[in-house]
Amino acid sequence: MNKTSSTPSHDIPSYLDPNNLGPWGIYLAQVDRVTPYLGDLARWVETLKRPKRSLIVDVPIELDNGTIAHYEGYRVQHNISRGPGKGGVRFHQNVTLSEVMALSAWMSIKNAAVNVPYGGAKGGIRVDPSTLSMGELERLTRRYTSEIGLIIGPSKDIPAPDVNTNERIMAWMMDTYSMNSGSTATGVVTGKPIDLGGSLGRKEATGRGVFTVGVEAAKRIGLSIDGVRIAVQGFGNVGGTAAKLFVEAGARLIAVQDHAGGVYNDQGLDVVALQTHVTEHGSVLGFAGGEVLQPEEFWACDCDILIPAALEGQLTAHNAPKVKARMVIEGANGPTTPEADDILQANNVLVLPDVIANAGGVTVSYFEWVQDFSSFFWSEAEINQRLVNIMTDAFTAVWNVGQQHKVSLRTATFIVACTRILHARAMRGLYP
Ligand SMILES: NC(=O)c1ccc[n+]([C@@H]2O[C@H](COP(=O)([O-])OP(=O)(O)OC[C@H]3O[C@@H](n4cnc5c(N)ncnc54)[C@H](O)[C@@H]3O)[C@@H](O)[C@H]2O)c1
Repeated sequence: MNKTSSTPSHDIPSYLDPNNLGPWGIYLAQVDRVTPYLGDLARWVETLKRPKRSLIVDVPIELDNGTIAHYEGYRVQHNISRGPGKGGVRFHQNVTLSEVMALSAWMSIKNAAVNVPYGGAKGGIRVDPSTLSMGELERLTRRYTSEIGLIIGPSKDIPAPDVNTNERIMAWMMDTYSMNSGSTATGVVTGKPIDLGGSLGRKEATGRGVFTVGVEAAKRIGLSIDGVRIAVQGFGNVGGTAAKLFVEAGARLIAVQDHAGGVYNDQGLDVVALQTHVTEHGSVLGFAGGEVLQPEEFWACDCDILIPAALEGQLTAHNAPKVKARMVIEGANGPTTPEADDILQANNVLVLPDVIANAGGVTVSYFEWVQDFSSFFWSEAEINQRLVNIMTDAFTAVWNVGQQHKVSLRTATFIVACTRILHARAMRGLYP
């Protein structure tokens, strides 16, 4: 038998539509791109093309009006070769199994890229939570947790917040799992409130990671942070924190766009005043310290660093050719379409991909889980320093692989991560 190649049997699982693979199709293409660089480990590559375990659950709840509603829920564990599953839970009306599979796989890549001892997992419910009362949301969360309780646990699979879930929901998940198992299990989820075993520094962790890899990359392309012009899409947790850290380091924040509008100031926006405005008004719209920026102008603005930190699919074949920045740092998950990725690369725009750039959040989630196990909590300064060390080392490894193989940083991150995952797979061997 040829030990360097595997024998694909069924490439596409029967439960997906081969003509419309959705996000899972994008992930499969990324794995194909990296396979030539995996050497002997390519023998195991089919492992990455199928999730280890996918659970689909029915989540029935009684609505406030007395009727019974049913929602479709998922928990997918893509890979657990390097440790327990880890990944968020998304509440959104458009969640699909394909999307949860892809997000779980990207968690495998992200966790291996920063070398935290986790596999990849993700969960979700097809629901628009804005249509539910607080009581309905709690019942939904608790029933879902109970249904996926079969496969989650502090040493099995550890959920966390994602789109439309937060620390309030994590508290309900922790309580439900604990009630079912008969003792308080703080380590079953991360992103919890501080008083329930959450970690200091978790809230800012993703933005801090974005800033850290940005500084590292800037050094390598000869870009000084002092006076550098940055533009940020999304001024929430990730974008707001990253913008603040860049400004504190001497950068000039010239443009911000969020769901309601955009603001521009060539001399630099006052980041603290803008944060106060957003807290008070819910958006950057109407901020007095800058001029109004139209959506199309945002992508073409005269900046050095562009940080998409809002939604997926924002940089497209349509707007990517207009980008003037020298570097794009993906704070959001999946903000750049594959076509835009190729255009940016052809135009010499360096893209720091999500699978490394926004890994600061899961890194501090890992710290939270470690602190919960030992019931010993670290100082914020200690957490931030450890985060910076991990992100810097991870970025250096990815950069070096990119240089060695002359590939994009996205492919380089996949090479580093897939090698780690498949090396673990090979060492463990195939059971039985
Ligand atoms: N929070 C984390 O720890 C974390 C970790 C990894 C990845 N991410 C990713 O980062 C992204 C942002 O997450 P967050 O936690 O900062 O969310 P958030 O809800 O705090 O902020 C989201 C921001 O995006 C803006 N936005 C929404 N729709 C928009 C639109 N159509 N156009 C422009 N802006 C729009 C909102 O106005 C808001 O400013 C998401 O893709 C998320 O998956 C977050």
